[in-house]
Amino acid sequence: MFDLTGKTALVTGAATGIGEAIARALSGAGAFVYVGDLNEEAGSKVAEAIEGEFLKLDVSSHDDSIAAVRKVHSDRGDLDILVNNAGIGHVGTILNTDAVDLERLFAVNVRGMYDLTKAFIPKMIERKYGVIVNIASIGGILAIRDRIAYCTTKFAVVGMTKCIALDHARDGIRANAVCPGRVETDFVRRRLAEYPDPGKAYEEMASTQAVGRMGRPEEVAAAVLYLASDEAAFVTGTALEIDGGWAAGR
Ligand SMILES: NC(=O)c1ccc[n+]([C@@H]2O[C@H](COP(=O)([O-])OP(=O)(O)OC[C@H]3O[C@@H](n4cnc5c(N)ncnc54)[C@H](O)[C@@H]3O)[C@@H](O)[C@H]2O)c1
Repeated sequence: MFDLTGKTALVTGAATGIGEAIARALSGAGAFVYVGDLNEEAGSKVAEAIEGEFLKLDVSSHDDSIAAVRKVHSDRGDLDILVNNAGIGHVGTILNTDAVDLERLFAVNVRGMYDLTKAFIPKMIERKYGVIVNIASIGGILAIRDRIAYCTTKFAVVGMTKCIALDHARDGIRANAVCPGRVETDFVRRRLAEYPDPGKAYEEMASTQAVGRMGRPEEVAAAVLYLASDEAAFVTGTALEIDGGWAAGR
């Protein structure tokens, strides 16, 4: 099960954190993986470790996305699996979130995956095969206090994923979102550093999950591996919560 031998995948934001774990999981299942990221140093190390290829890519740049798609198509012919994972966060309510913050998050979290998907999908439709996995967040299902810009973009990710799934279900395309709860990565460590008492903030963040702890990147990667595999052939348009029970209720 979950064999990806012969498949080609691109994972964005794969130099560290959840994206790195996804790249390692897909490669471990036999896929050739492009590690797309801004961070050349860390990304090249991951690519080398998994015998994939680093692709320098800022997903908020339309030109970068088009160049990445051209390179993948010219080197490998087709892309089977696109994992849109690159994302950035922000802390604030509407009162202390500027339009420029909202636009910055939108450019990476939403328009980035829109550009890449739009450029890859015509060839996927032509060959009637393509798997798209978009990393949203539990903040794309539920509001999180003090995260208006982040939640706005992640709700958009879930909506866009469902639209793509519906529009292209008969074209051999599957599109699913994964909605992690808090996962211990640099992303969360940077947020913690913004609090006056990071230790207390850590405990509070851990306790939002019903299981009382944060997740590990590998626990999200396992869900992505399932969705990317042909074992999930009947699964499209979902927003799969990998959240330690956060969304189950209080
Ligand atoms: N960590 C969590 O608790 C958590 C929870 C829910 C959802 N998520 C989502 O999971 C995804 C990955 O999060 P993470 O915790 O691994 O983050 P991270 O900050 O640890 O890693 C993000 C990676 O994306 C890269 N990146 C950032 N902007 C980019 C851009 N414009 N173009 C290309 N690459 C870029 C960074 O260089 C980094 O390697 C994000 O979409 C995030 O919103 C994270």
